[in-house]
Amino acid sequence: MTHQHKDAGLSRLARLLHHVTRRRNRAYGVIGVALVLLAIATWIYGGFATGIDFTTAVPRPPGPFAPAKDGANGETSSTGAIDATGATSTGGAARGYQTPTQTAPSRQATSDHGWRHSTHNPAAANISSHGIPSKIWQILLPKNPSASASASAFVPNPHALQDTPSWLVMNPDYTYTLVGQTGGDAFVRRHYGSNRRIVEAYEKMPNVGMKSDLLRYLILGAVGGVYTDTDTVALRAIDRWVPAGLRDKVAVVVGLEFDRRDGNGWADILHWVQFCQWTIAAAPGHPVFQKMAARVLQSLDDLSAHHGVPLAELRLTSAEVMNSTGPAAWTDVVFRQLQEYDPSLVEPKNLSYMTEPRLYGNILILPIDGFGMGQPHSNSTDDGTIPEAALVRHRFSGGWRD
Ligand SMILES: *[C@@H]1O[C@H](CO)[C@@H](O)[C@H](O)[C@H]1NC(C)=O
Ligand SMILES: *[C@@H]1O[C@H](CO)[C@@H](O)[C@H](O)[C@H]1NC(C)=O
Ligand SMILES: *[C@@H]1O[C@H](CO)[C@@H](O)[C@H](O)[C@H]1NC(C)=O
Ligand SMILES: *[C@@H]1O[C@H](CO)[C@@H](O)[C@H](O)[C@H]1NC(C)=O
Repeated sequence: MTHQHKDAGLSRLARLLHHVTRRRNRAYGVIGVALVLLAIATWIYGGFATGIDFTTAVPRPPGPFAPAKDGANGETSSTGAIDATGATSTGGAARGYQTPTQTAPSRQATSDHGWRHSTHNPAAANISSHGIPSKIWQILLPKNPSASASASAFVPNPHALQDTPSWLVMNPDYTYTLVGQTGGDAFVRRHYGSNRRIVEAYEKMPNVGMKSDLLRYLILGAVGGVYTDTDTVALRAIDRWVPAGLRDKVAVVVGLEFDRRDGNGWADILHWVQFCQWTIAAAPGHPVFQKMAARVLQSLDDLSAHHGVPLAELRLTSAEVMNSTGPAAWTDVVFRQLQEYDPSLVEPKNLSYMTEPRLYGNILILPIDGFGMGQPHSNSTDDGTIPEAALVRHRFSGGWRD
């Protein structure tokens, strides 16, 4: 009985060993066949080692400092430039001669490294569907840069930006940059550093309004986007500024500020029709900005010679500012550009009584309500309603009636 048990146990053990051995052999066989197939595959495909890169299948989160591509026109983002050079949000006066009461200096250093660049995804790339990059620029410089020991001494009044949220909510996915003294200086050196005259004019500009004027032309010329004064209110999404049928044709959007129409002039305004420069939209690299920078340099030379003092010591009248860096100079330069596109244009008066946007070359000119609604002249809508054509409301230093 005991032996039988023992025998049965041994034979079961033997069967088990036999079974295990056979399975192991089978496993060896399978592995062997697999190795042969692998060798064949390697021979045919030239080897796993070189042919297949598994790393490409691993999704990587966008690195915050990865070089950003600007979507709208495929340029390498130059906002990166201003970000990287430490553009900070610095408060102050925008157009000194038009906003003389701004007292609200300050500074909130909010360098936007990183996340803004990550908004440059392919879907956001097309949101503006024309060549104008999805960027909004405002400028807030200390009213008297020499008085503040450094940009950090400059304390902003939040009211200076009370209208800025309208731009943000109206234009989701646009980047927004508030250019302050440090960022403005860095931007000019970075993008125009090889042009000593521009750098010098920017640094020695006799007042903050003129400095802000020049800076907007330099920014739009180099990087593009929408520049708008801090006392403007966005009324329509920037994506809707250009009529649908013209979107691939427009590189610059300019609005009327003033139209004399029936002859009632304004003492300070030189032209029959004047373009505003409190808001301008542009694709980067448009020649009108290069010409405007050249005009500014020419005017500064003329004024310096006329008054017999160096640039930094000039004390200019409002009319001189308007005609050197401001809207009168801008009107001269833009109009000359329009004449290049359409030689039948003789004088700015040709644009009087405009009721619809007009395209000259790739510059879209908006009628008065586009950027200039709410003014008591020029047939601007000024009855408290917001007309369909109105894109921007300029509050003229926050003194908006009502
Ligand atoms: C971007 O716009 C172009 C032409 O305007 C179009 O062909 C392309 O499909 C658009 N891309 C996206 C991601 O919407
Ligand atoms: C405006 O500036 C230009 C360029 O400096 C100059 O030629 C012109 O005479 C000025 N116009 C007035 C009215 O001062
Ligand atoms: C511009 O106005 C002049 C007259 O001042 C006129 O001869 C010319 O035809 C006008 N051009 C256009 C494009 O309206
Ligand atoms: C004045 O502007 C309104 C639109 O706001 C327009 O309908 C009207 O035709 C304009 N008047 C003239 C004489 O251009």
